Amino acid sequence: MAQTTEILSSTPDGIARAARLLADGQCVAFPTETVYGLGADARQGDAVAAIYEAKGRPSFNPLIVHVSCGEEAARYGVLPEAADAFLADGWPAGLTLVVPLRDGSGLSPLVTAGSDSVALRVPSAPLARQLLQGFGGPVAAPSANPSGRISPTTAAHVLDGLSGRIAAVLDGGATTAGLESTILGFEGGAPVVLREGVFDVPETLPRKVKGDAGQVAAPGQLASHYAPRGRVRLDAEEARPGEWHIGFGAVAGDRTLSATGDLREAAARLFALLHEADARNAGAIAVAPIPDQGLGRAINDRLRRAAAPR
Ligand code: TXA
Ligand code: MG
Repeated sequence: MAQTTEILSSTPDGIARAARLLADGQCVAFPTETVYGLGADARQGDAVAAIYEAKGRPSFNPLIVHVSCGEEAARYGVLPEAADAFLADGWPAGLTLVVPLRDGSGLSPLVTAGSDSVALRVPSAPLARQLLQGFGGPVAAPSANPSGRISPTTAAHVLDGLSGRIAAVLDGGATTAGLESTILGFEGGAPVVLREGVFDVPETLPRKVKGDAGQVAAPGQLASHYAPRGRVRLDAEEARPGEWHIGFGAVAGDRTLSATGDLREAAARLFALLHEADARNAGAIAVAPIPDQGLGRAINDRLRRAAAPR
């Protein structure tokens, strides 16, 4: 769906417009001190699904949640004591922390790809802070590039890849760092580097980085992604006896990903329904066929992994 991508200036009007678009569930690219992120309200599942759609990402990697201050971060994640050492002088530039998701956080499960940890970041770039304050909520954002392309450090880079696919880009000029944030997780209360980035961490910290140096690793692939306990059968037009049936479109099921066959709605509901299968103690789960195009590819990727023999 082509749309006209607005180019917003870093004025109070431009920031207010960007905040309003986010509140409306639109995708807005904005600069942080690292790279431009493609933001959407982290509480609105359809808005988060639209991020994956715009990027053409064939799988659901969990997303970093951007907030305006440490207190707000603590509303969505449980910061371990070991985090204090990094946050003593406020949230440092270019640092993302992966911490346990707080119960009742209100974040869409699509943001964490159904896992019980969340990546949190308080950008230090003034424009990003102003946008987050103006919006007043959590903003999920991966780098604002089409899947497989390099991260954008100017509004022109963003438009190059995503013009016509997103509502707006907030133009703050070139980012200062030009490289992604460092991602730290915690294991047994001790910090572990999940991705090298612009924030300097001591050499002595253990690394769990995937991929070569210089290549952006995907720690989300390491985190154990959510898989339901029940056996999963795909492409099921009809349920067999004892199966709990997840429907789509014309296939009604016991519950549906989207009665109207809307892939964005289906993506937004996917992880919640997989969790519901567990809550119901479903030993066998059947899932209706999902068209393998657009967001359907990411949904099918996730379902195939859920259905893989364990
Ligand atoms: O500088 C940056 O980090 C930029 C700006 C926009 O914030 N963002 C960025 O996002 O590089 P992205 O999606 O391209 O990379 C984020 C990485 C992914 O590899 C993802 O797997 C990981 O963070 N990640 C996000 N949430 C996670 C979680 N709950 N557990 C483990 N890894 C997570
Ligand atoms: Mg990226």
